[in-house]
Amino acid sequence: MTMRDIRKIPRDRVSVSPSLLAADFGRLDEEIARITSAGADLLHLDVMDGHLVPNISFGVPVLKSIRKHSDLLFDAHLMITDPQRYAKPFADAGADHITFHVECSDDIYATIETIRGLGLTVGMSLRPGTPAKALFPYLDLIDLVLVMTVEPGFGGQSFMVNQMPKLAEFKREIDARKLNVHLEVDGGIDEKTVGTTAAHGGNMMVAGTAVFRHPQGAEYAIKQLHNASGVLNDEVAS
Ligand code: DX5
Ligand code: ZN
Repeated sequence: MTMRDIRKIPRDRVSVSPSLLAADFGRLDEEIARITSAGADLLHLDVMDGHLVPNISFGVPVLKSIRKHSDLLFDAHLMITDPQRYAKPFADAGADHITFHVECSDDIYATIETIRGLGLTVGMSLRPGTPAKALFPYLDLIDLVLVMTVEPGFGGQSFMVNQMPKLAEFKREIDARKLNVHLEVDGGIDEKTVGTTAAHGGNMMVAGTAVFRHPQGAEYAIKQLHNASGVLNDEVAS
């Protein structure tokens, strides 16, 4: 494992993982440099296969290319049916962390083991309609839970506030079991929705549109998101 270890990122403050999906794909190295100097803590890479979600984004060759231009921790969000099969190609291409979906077709325990065996950290995600309990059997085996606050597949959608009780449920369970598991939240996060997200226990914010396309620039945008650290340690809202 390199220095790029998600387990070393503190959970008692808000970190920001800008989603490359909202970048200008014609100028990826400049776009990544821009959000890096603006204070991004890691880089969220949304991989879609057109099967698990109704959209196709980018894959292994893109990760491999941008790896040469960036030292950021690559936080790969695999919205694909076969994460076990593709874990190694993504690890070889430079992913530091892989999050996969509980709704995938592969065996969950085997997928966790495969990703771990490659020396990467492991995250699991779930669709808005999937209950928190679907992930409870795996919480002791993973490093991150990714709560979706939009239907996965597209950037720029509206934040689903009805996912907040689920987020709080994860927070309570992680605290009760005393686990070092990040609560990452993805979809429609911006300066208006980050407060409630942090208040319900989310400590890692994915933001595409709100960072890459903020009218006042990425540095301002990331600062606004970091500011939600102030509500993170308050008692978890339910
Ligand atoms: C949705 C992706 C998200 C998305 C977030 O399937 O997982 O990461 O790009 O984009 P915004 O921040 O624009 O909602
Ligand atoms: Zn994502």
